[in-house]
Amino acid sequence: MLQVREVAVVDTADVALRKAAPADVAGLLALINGYASRGQLLPRTAESLQARLGDFSVAVDGSGAVLGCAALTPLGPGVGEVRSLAVAPEHAGRGLGRALVIALLNEADGRGFQQVLALTRRVSFFEALGFAPTRRENYLDKLMVDCQACPKNLCCDETAMVRSPARPKPAPKEFV
Ligand SMILES: CC(C)(COP(=O)(O)OP(=O)(O)OC[C@H]1O[C@@H](n2cnc3c(N)ncnc32)[C@H](O)[C@@H]1OP(=O)(O)O)[C@@H](O)C(=O)NCCC(=O)NCCS
Repeated sequence: MLQVREVAVVDTADVALRKAAPADVAGLLALINGYASRGQLLPRTAESLQARLGDFSVAVDGSGAVLGCAALTPLGPGVGEVRSLAVAPEHAGRGLGRALVIALLNEADGRGFQQVLALTRRVSFFEALGFAPTRRENYLDKLMVDCQACPKNLCCDETAMVRSPARPKPAPKEFV
């Protein structure tokens, strides 16, 4: 059974969840920007990843290849945002995305975030993790920089969803 209370604790099927390290940057770039090229995520640069590497958790295989990632970035006092959530297409549906978000929710507790926000097109995925739709406008001042840089700024098709980390976490599902 996957344990996410401590991000470093890992587990089954040759997959480990841990905080990102400098050696992961190339894998993170390839994973995130692969989805960014299809308009599914905002692109990242090596510099932006290095600057916020401490926000990232990764799922890696036995060789250290990055199979999935997610970042928890401060958005304002008491508010964190899930960013750059991605799982390699060939590993989709194994529970890695869910496990990464649960790891971030556990981390949010420790970092003192009362709320965790996600801007997403995957509403049912986040609902299953205890997030609920909220008004994007409530966070607009905090999101201003990112939204201005986004090509979909004027035609945003993402739903703002928020979760209180203090709520009980959904049980992680075993990898398959
Ligand atoms: C969203 C994403 C991270 C999910 O990762 P994942 O590891 O495949 O997700 P999980 O295996 O944990 O699946 C969780 C649930 O989502 C469902 N799911 C997985 N992929 C899905 C897909 N492409 N479409 C619809 N539902 C999907 C699973 O069936 C599962 O449901 P269940 O728990 O009821 O069985 C992954 O699809 C991805 O990287 N997408 C592209 C980038 C993106 O959209 N990121 C999110 C930005 S907020």
